[in-house]
Amino acid sequence: MTHPFTVAVLGPGGTGGLLAALLSRSGHRVICLAREATADALRGGGITVHSPQFGDFTAPVEADTELREPVDACLITVKHTALDAALTRVPRSALGDALVVPLLNGVEHPAALRAAFRPDRVAPAVIRVESTRIAPGVIEHGSPFTEIDLAGDGVPRGRLEALADRLTAAGTTARVAGDETSALWAKMAFLAPFALLTTRYGVPLGEARTRHRAELEALVAESAAVGLACGASADPARALARYDAFPPAAKSSMQRDAEAGRPLELDAIGGALLRAAERYGVPVPVTARLVRELREAGH
Ligand SMILES: NC(=O)c1ccc[n+]([C@@H]2O[C@H](COP(=O)([O-])OP(=O)(O)OC[C@H]3O[C@@H](n4cnc5c(N)ncnc54)[C@H](OP(=O)(O)O)[C@@H]3O)[C@@H](O)[C@H]2O)c1
Repeated sequence: MTHPFTVAVLGPGGTGGLLAALLSRSGHRVICLAREATADALRGGGITVHSPQFGDFTAPVEADTELREPVDACLITVKHTALDAALTRVPRSALGDALVVPLLNGVEHPAALRAAFRPDRVAPAVIRVESTRIAPGVIEHGSPFTEIDLAGDGVPRGRLEALADRLTAAGTTARVAGDETSALWAKMAFLAPFALLTTRYGVPLGEARTRHRAELEALVAESAAVGLACGASADPARALARYDAFPPAAKSSMQRDAEAGRPLELDAIGGALLRAAERYGVPVPVTARLVRELREAGH
């Protein structure tokens, strides 16, 4: 029997709200760190999840506008565009010995977090899920899976395993990944082509993968080459096969953000890919063009 954790969740939105509710439901103490209005809503009504995987349920959570006490882990689940502002809610002095676990897409945020917190407690994770915050404290979980790979070069493995055990007991499929670079780049190499292509053309994946096939193949090859240069293994053929297996109506979250007029994680995905490509001298002409066109379109 494992003892319950106290877990802070910075940004209880699509991913954070889902994990906060699942952890609370399985007996952990959860403190959501949010803006005042969201914190009020969560204190009053908890978090309600609608999910094909977990059922419909409401779980109570604590909520505050900043962290005021030590915790076992602090999940960072804001979008990259909100990261700097949100981090002011997590004073380093309050964290104690907590693991800092960012679940953001992208590859550059771990360095920023290691500059702000104890580097050997920053444990970047990759999450594969489709989950949307439809109102403060109301989460629509769409995917029939919720998979988390925990990494963190330099973090004691026992700490990662203890958190993975609790996330698994809460209902997700969580595991400790081999190494951080491979874990983050595997997600990046898969996500970037899908996000850039569907957002650039404003079409769902089915149309993007047929009408823009040559560009998709080029994007996949380019992001795999950058991943390889960064030290991660890559399998472009497998990535293409996975895109082909997705439902044709699938949309990327970057595309949904664009449709809703929200800021895009374009710099954290496309920008980071271009910076890594430049660092290693990998040619990425199609990625560069799509990022440029998206920026020119005002994103
Ligand atoms: N959603 C998914 O299915 C999914 C899947 C895989 C990876 N990811 C990645 O996970 C990360 C988070 O995405 P998401 O979809 O969960 O985002 P999201 O639904 O937009 O949730 C982000 C949350 O951050 C909160 N927030 C924003 N600024 C804040 C601030 N200054 N202080 C405190 N809270 C703040 C928002 O609060 P309010 O509610 O008050 O607006 C919101 O609840 C992204 O990097 C995304 O790419 C998401």
